[in-house]
Amino acid sequence: MDAAGKVIASGSEDHEPFHSPRPGWAEQDPRDWWRACGSAVRKALKSSHLGANEIACVGFSGQMHGAVLLDSADEVVRGAIIWCDQRSEAQTLELEKLFGRDALIQLTCNPPLTNFTLTKLLWVRETEPANWARVAHVMLPKDYVRFRLTGERAIDMADASGTLLLDVANRRWSAEVLSKSGIDVGLLPALHESPAVCGKVSAAGAEATGLRVGTPVVAGAGDQAAGAVGMGIARAGAVSATIGTSGVVFAATDRPSLDPQGRLHTFCHAIPGRWHVMGVTQSAGLSLRWFRDRFGVAAKDGRDPYDILAEEATSAPAGSEGAFWVPYLMGERTPHLDPNARAALVGLTASHTRGHIIRAVMEGVAYSLKDTFTIFDEMKIPVTSIRLGGGGARSPLWRQIQADVYAHEVEIVAAEEGAAYGAAILAGTGVGAWSSVDEACDKVVRVASRIPLNQANSKTMQHSYRTYRKIYPALRQVFS
Ligand code: XUL
Repeated sequence: MDAAGKVIASGSEDHEPFHSPRPGWAEQDPRDWWRACGSAVRKALKSSHLGANEIACVGFSGQMHGAVLLDSADEVVRGAIIWCDQRSEAQTLELEKLFGRDALIQLTCNPPLTNFTLTKLLWVRETEPANWARVAHVMLPKDYVRFRLTGERAIDMADASGTLLLDVANRRWSAEVLSKSGIDVGLLPALHESPAVCGKVSAAGAEATGLRVGTPVVAGAGDQAAGAVGMGIARAGAVSATIGTSGVVFAATDRPSLDPQGRLHTFCHAIPGRWHVMGVTQSAGLSLRWFRDRFGVAAKDGRDPYDILAEEATSAPAGSEGAFWVPYLMGERTPHLDPNARAALVGLTASHTRGHIIRAVMEGVAYSLKDTFTIFDEMKIPVTSIRLGGGGARSPLWRQIQADVYAHEVEIVAAEEGAAYGAAILAGTGVGAWSSVDEACDKVVRVASRIPLNQANSKTMQHSYRTYRKIYPALRQVFS
């Protein structure tokens, strides 16, 4: 990105999908992220036609919550247990017993969840003592990539919020949580605010990426906080709804706003002195990807498979004639906090087609995100604008479904790079291209289009949403 916020070049490289050795488990090899990163940065540099000495700073973003475990020789101890893994339910119950749920919410702003890093660490400690004995360093996914690029062990406040080890209100590791749960602070990386320069590219990092030795690197942020910066979700009232693999509704706040029931996450924002609340759907884009992978697309004509799926879905009307998808393929966070929740297709009749089911999947994901807006209403979190992000913002049908389900006009921003764009804003701020993240967002984030609601369809979908809300309570016993 240049200093006017224009994207000069980008590069990407696939990494391996997560593997799931047992239902509800999800693991990845951190070394594969580093391999893909090296290749992506080389591609971006090549297509930029810039010399590596013209890169002023590097930013970071990545999936949150995952536990990367390294030994004293900095070798990976075991596969990283990643954000959506659900194996640590017993550890969440132990933490509730040890601290009391309300006390833990007071200390960290959040309840214990299988998604958060601490419960994954406790699972390894209890279940794989030989592996745990070797652990000398714990870090999050993007911070492993940073470590390979710079040799520094560092983390930002936003990503650290998702470990359950941070005193989110005071922006420091929680001495009380660490000591009571028996985690040595020496295992953890140093804390920084997201736009702070906290390292430089090492010789090994330069070799792997083509970047210049000594290029400054900022702390960056987890995917949600960086994505929000990239969409200009900086001040209270601005809200984003992102459908990536997971789905997140994110609101910036001036202080830590707590949901006493813990259904939302209260985390530090990537902006110093600011926080955010967010609700998370575990399987948002993952629902449609799962459908595509398991049931295929109607045609193989070189078009993007998701465009073909969306075309099929347009054959069904709003509300999918009573077909519903509850998207709990990997359990659910907001609003149920239930690792045992399961996905379901409900209300099928002989007249339903593939098109109905694909549309029902897209609608079900939007209903699930709407659950967070419903909690925002209860908590009086202001919503003045809604910006869409992730793959769900690229599909015209999914954009319209979201506007109709949220019953609110939605906005699309010009830059499509999401979290990578936010990471570049943080990098530019770190080296003084802008005086603050607010100033950067005001200068570079541009709304490209606004999608109004379709009044008739929105009415149908408000009615359907009320029905959708009854499905989980009715099926909970079946799932468990
Ligand atoms: C947020 C979350 C996801 C993951 C994967 O809490 O778990 O955003 O980071 O995208």
